[in-house]
Amino acid sequence: MNVVDIITKQKNGETLTRDEISFMVEGFTAGTIPDYQMSAFLMAVVLKGLSKENTVALTEIMRDSGDVMDLSGIEGIKVDKHSTGGVGDKTTLIVAPIAAAAGVPIAKMSGRGLGFTGGTVDKMESIPGFRTSIENDEFIRAVNERGIAVIGQTGNLAPADKKIYALRDVTGTTESLALITSSIMSKKLAAGSDAIVLDVKCGTGAFMKTIPEAEELARSMVEIGKASGKKTIAIISDMNQPLGNAVGNALEVQEAIDVLKGCGPEDVTELSINLAGAMIVAGGLAGNAREETNDAVLKGKEIAKEMLDSGKALDKFREFVVGQGGDPEIADNYELMAQPAHSIEVKSPVKGFVTGVDALRIGLASQHTGAGREKKEDSVDMSAGIVLNKKIGDSVEKGELLFTAYANDKEKLKKGAEEALAAFEFGKIEVTKPSLIKRVIE
Ligand code: URA
Repeated sequence: MNVVDIITKQKNGETLTRDEISFMVEGFTAGTIPDYQMSAFLMAVVLKGLSKENTVALTEIMRDSGDVMDLSGIEGIKVDKHSTGGVGDKTTLIVAPIAAAAGVPIAKMSGRGLGFTGGTVDKMESIPGFRTSIENDEFIRAVNERGIAVIGQTGNLAPADKKIYALRDVTGTTESLALITSSIMSKKLAAGSDAIVLDVKCGTGAFMKTIPEAEELARSMVEIGKASGKKTIAIISDMNQPLGNAVGNALEVQEAIDVLKGCGPEDVTELSINLAGAMIVAGGLAGNAREETNDAVLKGKEIAKEMLDSGKALDKFREFVVGQGGDPEIADNYELMAQPAHSIEVKSPVKGFVTGVDALRIGLASQHTGAGREKKEDSVDMSAGIVLNKKIGDSVEKGELLFTAYANDKEKLKKGAEEALAAFEFGKIEVTKPSLIKRVIE
């Protein structure tokens, strides 16, 4: 097989054979195909797109480039959940215990964050004693015993994607539906669950800025999941402003617990019920309601809400924390979590309405306070971050509290607070709050 012929074929928009895709991906991963040839190939994919058949092949080849988790030792339909990335997104900490309380086995691997706030693993490590690194046997046993375990990524999942993603990042080849789909889905398929629920973020703070773009990505990922034999449901949710009020590691854990107690912000609660409901449907636990119908979706949400209202989800969260070595008392006493040395309350400079809270700038502000990483090897400050008091659509008086910034370093606090204030836009006319759930794609 000849690399230039394959690049030319892709440049001309022709469908490739599975062997040709395999040749490119395996050759690049092994180092026999250089960056410049892979870059040309990726650019041809960006410009000409890939057929569904070729996208499935690319996803499966990247999945098989490393370890594929074997979760067959866990009984029941294992359901994974993935978010395409948003600011203030702490839903894993809420939906995993809700779905587990409803009987869905949760065997989830999560990542650390780079930039902005930490990832789910960083957030969980803000709970004193919590272990995110567990041997495979213990992981499987934990899910069979308690119905839930969430750990940091183990093994070598989809190394081809890791290498290709790094190249895409520096060659202007990130924006391709086929490449984004195959990148995300190769890792999800390697993680071994039987079904997948996707939270596709849409808005100024997301990869996909418009509903049609988000819908296209959601449909593409759902199709690939199904083609690989996994029930896949996607929910398109708003990311025109941060999700909830808290952005930062321990701060987000506290907000997640608030939601489990029934006193969290409305938007996080609504999204969590929708995602957990979809996980319950995907796990086949939404009663006799036929799948693929609104009945099943409604039933799933009803069960999720019942898990929250009855306190069963909060009990499951406590069990989950104890099971992984953490202190469950944090659920009743947030002061047992890391506390920041400094905080500052920032007030509104004007009277009017909040018309914008730029999610990316709030993410950056949180990173400035120390809650996120700039480089992979940086450690995160568990106690730092931002807590918003005002969101889009809220009225505000001059001098009223907009947000509080927390940090352990005064300089970082100042930098974070300045950036967060710059994220706010004000107007004289009331604006409607963005709707949270845009679409459900099955
Ligand atoms: N997240 C991924 O893992 N891959 C992409 O290509 C985009 C977002």
